[in-house]
Order: sequence, then structure tokens, then C-alpha cells
Amino acid sequence: MKLERIARAKINLGLAVTGRREDGYHELSSVFVRVGLADRLAMTVPVPALEDDVLAVADDAEVPTEGNLVLSATHMLREMHRSASGATEERLPGLAIALEKGIPMAAGMAGGSSDAAAALALAPEAWGIERQDVEPGELARRLGADVPFFVADVDAALVGGLGESVEPLAAIDGGAGFLLVTPRMTLSTAAVFARHDELPVAMSAASEAVSALAELMRSGLDGGGLAAQATQLAAANDLWPAARSLEPVLGTIRDRLTDALDRPLLMTGSGTTLFALYPSVTEAVEAGRTLADEAPDELAGAIVHAVDPISAHASWRYP
Ligand code: C5P
Repeated sequence: MKLERIARAKINLGLAVTGRREDGYHELSSVFVRVGLADRLAMTVPVPALEDDVLAVADDAEVPTEGNLVLSATHMLREMHRSASGATEERLPGLAIALEKGIPMAAGMAGGSSDAAAALALAPEAWGIERQDVEPGELARRLGADVPFFVADVDAALVGGLGESVEPLAAIDGGAGFLLVTPRMTLSTAAVFARHDELPVAMSAASEAVSALAELMRSGLDGGGLAAQATQLAAANDLWPAARSLEPVLGTIRDRLTDALDRPLLMTGSGTTLFALYPSVTEAVEAGRTLADEAPDELAGAIVHAVDPISAHASWRYP
């Protein structure tokens, strides 16, 4: 039996760091939106002679398979199933898992977390066992802060706490467009949070901007309405100063893109992907084509995708 699932990416529309806990983790408030850029996860079972789950990644040797969140997710489920059923010695067959990456890695779009959520959905079906209801706080602690959002399986949400508080919001109208620019460099989320803690505390309006956006989305927002919020949202990622401080060239790229596209650029998560908002994906594609034709130097080797909030795949990609 082979089971497949698409694992889509997210972007953050505003990200406020609202507190730091004693264990070093940060409390956040952010609007998460799923967008049309995806990985594909497949599980095959039973595989004779397979003792444990094995992950293979198609066409990309750079994706670590050892310790990958997909395996952490299946191992967590197996352990929970055994303790729930009291059958601590029960053997579940090893899963052969194949992952095709479409989401750039370490770029603020939570591909690994989305893959982990896809694995949590597929593995019980593959094993023919009851689904395990994992408490969101446990998901955030054991697999990562972005995982509860993907497990909730909603198009948009106001996410708080360490990621365990997920309030679903109405999806942004499917016509909206995002032009995503993922620079060549990568940033580690842990390093960005650590730098955030070292920098002087700055006045921030991120928390208010996130709350205001969530309020607008509760009553329904289309692409034009969202694009009208771009200026406020561009100033509403509290991790931006830390990301720019670790990778100053990111600041240069953002300035150049702001000029070339003539609109504000936002950063998703802890970076590095920067993005602009458009009333429709057609306009995002148009802007991307013009940028690639007329100002390829501004892109400095970046990967560009034009996506919408509904589709499973990008409408346009460069190069
Ligand atoms: O949740 P995730 O595994 O993506 O987080 C990576 C690292 O980022 C954590 O180990 C932690 O150092 C930092 N982090 C944090 N507060 C959060 C989420 C992540 O400090 N809410």
C-alpha cells in the first residue's frame, strides 16, 4: 500500500515576540497562512524485512534524513501507540518513506514542520492503527513550534504561545498573490532567536499589527485588502533586526527589492524568505517576470516563487 500527502508551506504575516520564558523559548503572536508551495510525502507499507522507518529524499542530497522531523514524528506515534495500547513490545512494520522537496529549506516557510504533520496524518493509516490525538503543547515541544498549525490543517490562523495556541482564521480569498524571494543564504531559527535576545530591546508595534490583521481576517479579507496592510506588516516582524544583524546582505537585498518592486517587503518567520503582497496571483507572476527580466542582479541568485493561498503548487518560479 502506498499513501501520499501534499505538505504545504506557510508564511507569517507579522511576527511579534511577546515574551521569553525561563527555559529560553519565546512566546510569539503571528498570523500563519498556508501558501501554494509544497513537499510531497509518500509512505509504503508493508516492506518486507524493514525493521524501522526509513526516509529517502528525492533529488536533494542536502536534506538530512538522519534526525529528520518526519522520522521524529513516526517514532513519537509508534511510542504513543504502544503506551496507549499497553502492548509495549508490539512491532509495527517499518515504513518506507519518500519525500520530494518543493519548499526551500531553512528559509522561514516551515517545510520540515509541514512534512512532520503530513507524517502524523499518514502513519496511522499506513499502520492501520487508531490516530493519536497529540496535545498541541506536546507537538510544539517535541517536534517544533510550527507543527501544531499544520496539524490543525487550516488555511490561516492566529498562532500564539510557543506555537501551541492555534485560532483558525478565515482563509484569505484565493485570488491573493505572494511573490516569495528566497535568498541563497540560510539562517538557523535558534541563531536568530539567540541574536534577538542579545540586541537592545526595541519598541515594537508588531503585536498590535498582528492583532489588527487577525481582526480583519475574522471578518473576511481579500487579496486587495491584505495588500493594503503591507506597510504595517513589513514593520511587524520582531525577528527582522536579528536576521539582518546575522546576515547584513539580507538588508541590502530587501532594500533593492523594495525599490525594484516598488512595494514593501515582509520577512517570513526567522527568515530568510522575503515577500511582497499582491491583490492577485496574476499580478505577483507579472511582477516576478518583470523583476527577473529587468533586474536579475537584484536577485543575486535567489529563488523566486509566485504563489496564492489556495493552490498546492506555485504559479510561477524563477529560475
Ligand atoms: O520550534 P523549532 O524547532 O523550529 O525552533 C528552533 C529553535 O528556535 C529552538 O530550539 C529555540 O532555540 C528557538 N525558538 C524559540 N522560541 C520559539 C520557537 C523557537 O526560542 N517559540
